[in-house]
Amino acid sequence: MSGEFPDPLRMRDGSPIATAAEWRERRRPELLELFQRHMYGFFPPAPVTGAPNVVRSESFLGGRAMRKDVRVPLGPPGAPTLNLMVLTPRGRRSPLFLGINFGGNEVEVLAPEGVRKNTWSVERTLARGYAVASFHAADVDPDRDDFTDGVHPWHRPAGSGAERGPTEWGTLAAWAWGLSRALDYLEHDPDVDARRIAVVGHSRMGKAALLAAAFDERAALAIPSQSGCGGAAPSRTTVGETVALINKNFPHWFCTAFRAYNDTPERLPFDQHELLALIAPRPVLLCNAVEDEWANPAGQFEMLRAAAPVWRLLGKEGLRADRMPPSGKLLDGDLGYFIRPGAHAMSPVEWAAYLDFADRHR
Ligand code: GCU
Repeated sequence: MSGEFPDPLRMRDGSPIATAAEWRERRRPELLELFQRHMYGFFPPAPVTGAPNVVRSESFLGGRAMRKDVRVPLGPPGAPTLNLMVLTPRGRRSPLFLGINFGGNEVEVLAPEGVRKNTWSVERTLARGYAVASFHAADVDPDRDDFTDGVHPWHRPAGSGAERGPTEWGTLAAWAWGLSRALDYLEHDPDVDARRIAVVGHSRMGKAALLAAAFDERAALAIPSQSGCGGAAPSRTTVGETVALINKNFPHWFCTAFRAYNDTPERLPFDQHELLALIAPRPVLLCNAVEDEWANPAGQFEMLRAAAPVWRLLGKEGLRADRMPPSGKLLDGDLGYFIRPGAHAMSPVEWAAYLDFADRHR
């Protein structure tokens, strides 16, 4: 692996990880703890809540599919509720793409292809035999530096003060936790093949998708798209967005302890290849756009290279190439990569790549 990134197969105390069992029992738990303590903050446990409530169940796309809207409670009575929209091809249990939207279920996810900058290609996805489930980010936590709204006030650690403590969870962790709450429901939805749920997301929602898949093994496949800094791009970099910039511009995304690394990311006890490695042996696809240098497409490929030894230790093939594939060509395998021409957006082009990748891992 590349010398400048920490070795995923070495414990903090320097001892090597030589077997799959050691990875699972020692290194994986160590990394889960480190990522929470230094970067995203600690996740609260799944909440004890009332049952989810299906408030709409109707035919969709002229009877070719079904639409269900489900209210999933995120805490005790009074806490926020996730409005999960679940679109399923009719008549069979289907694999599913789950992701958070920026603009609302109706406004963004149901918009026809090409109408909005971020597209969900719902019709095409359903026609290819996949279900789609999504909720609006603000259902879990509005995207602003305010910890009095969203789920945060409902899940404070015992004994916390008025201010957010250094390792209390930020907004990215809250979004990822929201994806896990959606999985709690989807596991029991009779129209969904719960063993084949891909977690997807664009940009900041890609960071959340990656984090959710790293922590929640019910996600069978992860597709963080143009996720950049705090997602699939390295923190040890000078390309695109840096730790200092992301903490300055989005102070609520991470725990405040992460700010200690603003000018010294090389002191972090991990880098983002190790967040990817937490997904192993499940497949992951990183998507990028050539003009989106802010998200550091080449750095993301380096993260795949540095993560690959973990897949190999777990008996998988790992990464199939030493170099980034040409623009427009999907690099398949356990560690997939796709880059297309153009700028920062979730376009029908990457949805087609998500579908092709999911087909190959069905
Ligand atoms: C900003 C931010 C990125 C983020 C992106 C987005 O550009 O710096 O980290 O991924 O917004 O969510 O669109």
